[in-house]
Amino acid sequence: MSDARTIQNKQKLTSVEEQMIHYEQDFGAHHYGRLDVVVKSTEGCWLTDVNGKRYLDCLAAYSAANQGHHHPKIVQAVKDALDGKYASVISNVVYTDQLALFLKKTAELVPQLGPRFGNHGNKVLPKNGGVESVETAIKAARYYGWKSKGIEDGKQEIIVFGNNFHGRMITIVSFSSTKKYREGFGPITPGFVTVDYGDLEAVRKAINPNTCGILVEPMQGEGGMNIPPEGFLAGLRKLSDEHDLILIFDEIQVGLGRTGRMFCFEHENVVPDAIILGKAISGGLVPVSVFLTNTKLMDLIFQPGSDGSTYGGYPMACVAGLAALEVIEEEKLAERSARMGKILRKKIDAIAGRSPHVKEVRGRGLFIGIEVKNGEAMVYCRKLLELGVLANDSHGHTIRISPPLIINENEIDYLCERLEEVLVD
Ligand SMILES: Cc1ncc(COP(=O)(O)O)c(C=O)c1O
Repeated sequence: MSDARTIQNKQKLTSVEEQMIHYEQDFGAHHYGRLDVVVKSTEGCWLTDVNGKRYLDCLAAYSAANQGHHHPKIVQAVKDALDGKYASVISNVVYTDQLALFLKKTAELVPQLGPRFGNHGNKVLPKNGGVESVETAIKAARYYGWKSKGIEDGKQEIIVFGNNFHGRMITIVSFSSTKKYREGFGPITPGFVTVDYGDLEAVRKAINPNTCGILVEPMQGEGGMNIPPEGFLAGLRKLSDEHDLILIFDEIQVGLGRTGRMFCFEHENVVPDAIILGKAISGGLVPVSVFLTNTKLMDLIFQPGSDGSTYGGYPMACVAGLAALEVIEEEKLAERSARMGKILRKKIDAIAGRSPHVKEVRGRGLFIGIEVKNGEAMVYCRKLLELGVLANDSHGHTIRISPPLIINENEIDYLCERLEEVLVD
């Protein structure tokens, strides 16, 4: 039953590792290609495998662990929840104190969204995994198109972008430009128009009377760590205002300090009508995501019965979320990401200058992509793993360096010594 082909360094694996890998191979769906390491525990920026070997985590669970693994404050909040200090999941027919506090904190953390709809504050709709909140956002844009713009129900269109990544459920993969995410899973969900990321003129041409919204990552993570051309987000803002479209930014991977600002959209000073947050919003121990928009829009779009989730906003998620957001603020992780990102970037640029393998380095804050000339980033990631660094690729061709935002200068040196070995020697 085992697929031994995936165990690439078989001779180097211990029997415990081998057994765990075979269990995953034999009893789990093969929906991820995995690196040959079996992680046992995590702390701060470090992972420890079943043999006690440590790895510097330069992936941070795709930004879910921005605060560092097992941050004591988040752990304490979750422990308190497990000890019964707060309610367990109790369905959504009653109010809960922790949800109230989490909603207020999150709504106030984000600048006024959709200012053209008035200064009413923001409202929050909580879910679990990120993709669920992307679905919520799509529902919101479609409903707005129908209710407010008078688009015939079923004809609403949302503009999305090439190389997007917004998750893996049917509706979301329906507009993925990556064939393997989509192929064979039809019938796919209609109502999406894809244009090239960064191409404002194409967006302008794609807008028609049925267009209700634009869904965009303010910087693409999975799509190759792509920064949009300057003025792109501002251009989307202008087009959305002119054509009354809901402009939605997916900040699930790049929000909450990752790019050196609390929100990636702050790099361009452009405020969307709605945003989606996930991953770091709960700091790596409980899945939480949220859809946020202007109060006026949220109240127009969602009424009792039009959305819901059993675990969405349950007490343990909320206490983890509150603690995780407080950590980001108290430890000034966005500023730290900018500061450490600058130090790391300088060193990576120097390595790239000496390397025969590097095509381009790009990124913001602690979200740095190293595109390699042979287009096979995983070749380098596997070498890094042997040297005690966990990193993976973005879009095949780019090594993604996105460590927890608490990374220090010694850890940056540790990483760069290994990058030097892999990319230069
Ligand atoms: C930009 C973006 N949107 C949505 C998602 C989906 O989030 P989840 O995997 O939690 O469903 C991801 C996950 O990597 C992401 O990076």
